[in-house]
Amino acid sequence: MKVIIRENAAEGGLWAARHIAARIREKAARTHKPFVLGLPTGSTPLATYAELVRMVRSGELSFRNVITFNMDEYVGLPEAHPESYHSFMHKNFFDHIDIPKENIHILNGNAADPEAECAAYEQAIAKAGGIDLFMGGIGEDGHIAFNEPFSPLSSRTRVVTLTQDTREVNSRFFGGDPDAVPARAMSVGVATVMDSREVMILAFGPKKARALASAIEGPLSHYNTVSAMQNHPAGIIVCDEAAIGEVKVNSYRYFKAVEAAEGDA
Ligand code: GLP
Repeated sequence: MKVIIRENAAEGGLWAARHIAARIREKAARTHKPFVLGLPTGSTPLATYAELVRMVRSGELSFRNVITFNMDEYVGLPEAHPESYHSFMHKNFFDHIDIPKENIHILNGNAADPEAECAAYEQAIAKAGGIDLFMGGIGEDGHIAFNEPFSPLSSRTRVVTLTQDTREVNSRFFGGDPDAVPARAMSVGVATVMDSREVMILAFGPKKARALASAIEGPLSHYNTVSAMQNHPAGIIVCDEAAIGEVKVNSYRYFKAVEAAEGDA
């Protein structure tokens, strides 16, 4: 995996936005097929979304030929609830870019048949030709999407039970009450993300440092599902100085040396 280290979250967010824009343009230059982009929610990708919105507004980039698949959604939370991932994505991204409505895919956490909903999501990804680039964040326990510790690294889109830790961390969006955070979510699986042609994981701030270090230097483990990145042939971690703080000094130096030698390639 490649590790890009930036001074702070704002710089890291910019790097990620430029990378996405470059990939969209590269594909557009060689084929008429749509670019298929996987997307996360959370505070981590906000700077990236803001920069992508700026690029669209200034005419530098278009999402007219981009298809998106979001990572996850709470189960049982009305779509219009301000903290649903549907609301989040529209408010922070989709309402401000030129993506056709029918190109947006977000799991329906209120589906009458959740299993069928999850199976249909996997089929829709396959029908779109697979995901070109999946951007993700990580939880403080190293979860990717909502793949909590002990999610099989071979997992697919399904309904998951959130850990108490995750409900506590996310309670900041629900008036500080962990019980107000839905107990279950629908999430793409670890393997769904890892099947993408490229995976870019963002991690900013000291709260992510331990999970990030064990994902990079620890064993491949269902206990820290982002460690699956170790097996991805085109995995990129974009982090800031605070989030990379727990890796060995020599690992840090190596990542910096690789970037200096290879640039943004
Ligand atoms: C939730 C989401 C994850 C996200 C994580 C981190 O658990 N399901 O996809 O990576 O939050 O959120 P934040 O970026 O706010 O730290």
